[in-house]
Amino acid sequence: MKKIAIIGADGQLGTDLAEVFSEKHEVASLTIQDIRIENFDQVQEVLSGLEPDVILNTAAYHRVPDCESNQALAFQVNAIGAQNVAKVAQDLGAVNVYYSTDYVFDGAKGTPHVETDAPNPQSVYAISKLAGEYFTRHYCDKHFVVRVSGIYGKVPSLIKGNNFVTSMLKLANEKPEVRVVDDEILTPTPTLEIAKNTLLLIETDHYGVVHMTSEGACSWYEFASVIWSTLDLKTPLHRAKVSDFPPTVKRPSYSVLENDNLKKLGINCMSTWKEGLIHFLKEKYLEGGV
Ligand SMILES: NC(=O)c1ccc[n+]([C@@H]2O[C@H](COP(=O)([O-])OP(=O)(O)OC[C@H]3O[C@@H](n4cnc5c(N)ncnc54)[C@H](OP(=O)(O)O)[C@@H]3O)[C@@H](O)[C@H]2O)c1
Repeated sequence: MKKIAIIGADGQLGTDLAEVFSEKHEVASLTIQDIRIENFDQVQEVLSGLEPDVILNTAAYHRVPDCESNQALAFQVNAIGAQNVAKVAQDLGAVNVYYSTDYVFDGAKGTPHVETDAPNPQSVYAISKLAGEYFTRHYCDKHFVVRVSGIYGKVPSLIKGNNFVTSMLKLANEKPEVRVVDDEILTPTPTLEIAKNTLLLIETDHYGVVHMTSEGACSWYEFASVIWSTLDLKTPLHRAKVSDFPPTVKRPSYSVLENDNLKKLGINCMSTWKEGLIHFLKEKYLEGGV
């Protein structure tokens, strides 16, 4: 049994990490009330008091458009915050897991990105997360930089107040019809599966960058279509183009990751995006809910 400190434990990913890791390990669930990662002294005091074997850092400022107008805060949390955690993890000899994003790539490749591909972030959010990745790698030997994509969980993202599933349900409830873009490709990924795969990952010492998304890829429209068909939504759903909506921030039009390192380690336990989504929707909305 290891001592695990989860930063952002009441967030979308943090909630599932806490649940999954509690079954096997001793978990300290830290919310923003317990620790603000941009405050080095607090990070040092709180984590030193816990002496964790593993730190799971999910904290982020990730409202992508807001990061453009509040660049200082994006860097304070996503980059300097990651640096603070990495420095303290190194001092404590702890394994440090930093969750990052598919948005570190520009998507121009047009085929799934492996961990060794060169990043080329297109927004302030993505640049600040990439800086967080580099700080994590630079300051802490025992690190995992885990890149995830299109995540949804039973607790919607706290900072955004929603995830794609809850946004679609709200629109289907409130609007006469819903239009969703069909020319931006991603891999929707349930946070519960990320938590379960992280549990396997920390048993290895193959430190470095790890892609951890569901298998396969789809457009946002196809993502929505499965929500519609699984939950039998009646509101008409239509295809749209990215160009139909006024651009706020540049996002990759093809944002798909290949779990190359997990597969090489023989511990890739992610299901296809469709299986994962249908399972999540049935459990949360059709079988008594959570
Ligand atoms: N959402 C996506 O589709 C997506 C895609 C790719 C990568 N990611 C990455 O995945 C990770 C988890 O995302 P998520 O959706 O689970 O986020 P979330 O639901 O917003 O959870 C983040 C958690 O971190 C806490 N937090 C925020 N700022 C903090 C700070 N300065 N110090 C300490 N704690 C802080 C939040 O607390 P409060 O909410 O109370 O402030 C919350 O508990 C993030 O690193 C994100 O960049 C997300």
